[in-house]
Amino acid sequence: MRHYRAVLTEGGPVHDSVLDAVGATALVRLRRIVPEGGAPVWVKTEWTNPGGSVKDRAALNMVLEAERSGALTPGATIVEGTSGNTGIGLAMVAAARGYRAVFVVPDRTTTEKVALLRAYGAEVVPTPGLVPREDPRHVQLLAARIVAETPGAWLADQYGNPANPDVHERTTGPEIWAQTGGRVTHLVAGAGTGGTISGTGRYLQRTGGVTVVAADPESSRYGGGDGSPYFVEAVGHYLHPHTETDTWPAVFDTSVPDRFERIGDGESLRTVRRLAREEGLLVGGSAGTAVAAALRVSAEAGPDALVVAVLPDSGRIYLSKYFDDGWLTTLGFLDSPGDARRVRDVVGAYRPGLFVTPSTSTVACLRTALAGAPAGTAVIPVVAARHTDATTWSAPDVIGTVAVTDLDALDPSAEVGAHAGPPPPAVGHGEDAAAARTRIGDGPAGAPVLMLVDGRATTTTTRAALDQA
Ligand SMILES: Cc1ncc(COP(=O)(O)O)c(C=O)c1O
Repeated sequence: MRHYRAVLTEGGPVHDSVLDAVGATALVRLRRIVPEGGAPVWVKTEWTNPGGSVKDRAALNMVLEAERSGALTPGATIVEGTSGNTGIGLAMVAAARGYRAVFVVPDRTTTEKVALLRAYGAEVVPTPGLVPREDPRHVQLLAARIVAETPGAWLADQYGNPANPDVHERTTGPEIWAQTGGRVTHLVAGAGTGGTISGTGRYLQRTGGVTVVAADPESSRYGGGDGSPYFVEAVGHYLHPHTETDTWPAVFDTSVPDRFERIGDGESLRTVRRLAREEGLLVGGSAGTAVAAALRVSAEAGPDALVVAVLPDSGRIYLSKYFDDGWLTTLGFLDSPGDARRVRDVVGAYRPGLFVTPSTSTVACLRTALAGAPAGTAVIPVVAARHTDATTWSAPDVIGTVAVTDLDALDPSAEVGAHAGPPPPAVGHGEDAAAARTRIGDGPAGAPVLMLVDGRATTTTTRAALDQA
């Protein structure tokens, strides 16, 4: 490895308010994980914003614009539906400027993020994350209802508020241009609301013909995935199977990305580990997605290009997930240590499960399908409809099981989903098989147990099979 001289910078800016410390983040060069012969990759350290993420920029600008337009008046309540970082940015701005803040947060959000919102004095309203857009409990609908019911409340609306992408066009883009002396050739960023990539990308395309690459979770709808759930938070677009009209955020200018790089959860999370262990950069899952995409771009573009990736937040708020080896192993992202037999070694000889989708399959269809099923198939996992990747199923999509012995008693025209029991337990493919067996506890020896690879069910096993480990 080439060594370089580390320097400690002297002095630093002096600010009248914490809010003046938002933006003007450093660009840091990746030194060890970039492919040989590839383009240099520099990362925009957005987690160094005072609220801890890129969303500080949007939060501050949305509030300042609302004050300017009169939509937000002194002492009023700021409301937002947010998976975390926008809320944290808004909570910081609200505290610094004397507003009350209420946030509707999907229940998948990490406990660290929720605790942060509360630490800034904000109120948190949790709601189920995996519900159709039309469901009144949906994050956006619930936030809108709270605004309607709270006098003087203002909805920040990061998905529709032009002040979100505008701040990136005015600050993030010009910063990257200036910091690279105009040499940047590729911008890589994820899209949640699409604010970052639309604003930053628009500026860099206009100013320097920069190629804009969207780093998107593999199953996200944005990049052409099936919309099934994934484990990297805050980027991409999930589609609930019962959502009737799939609307994308108004602030996402889809004409900006020149292309999408689709990155699976496993690649994102393994990149996050490498960034921490090999570069000393402790960043979140969407930063892993962005860097994984940037490394692909680097290899392809060659040494004359210059790639900049936007790294939205820090790994500190994901310690219980992406940096927890137990979490990673039980979801099939990592092998457990040691050389005991692993789940995949035991499962090898076992039959794959027969998966059916609940609203497209009737009991009659299932009986027909069973005619070709392996002998002895006793219980069938039932998977949420529409997310129809033929070979793997995202674990949260598996909604239950149906016992084959029950089928004869059921109305042949009934939807299978209506008769599904609870979701089966799941084990990671690299887990120590005996430990996995202990972890899932007692239950019927022959009932299905899902085996997960990178968070997706690829096959089923049984307690009886795991007992042989
Ligand atoms: C961790 C993280 N990554 C990426 C994004 C996506 O940014 P944007 O909403 O600007 O597309 C967000 C937005 O909340 C985020 O919190």
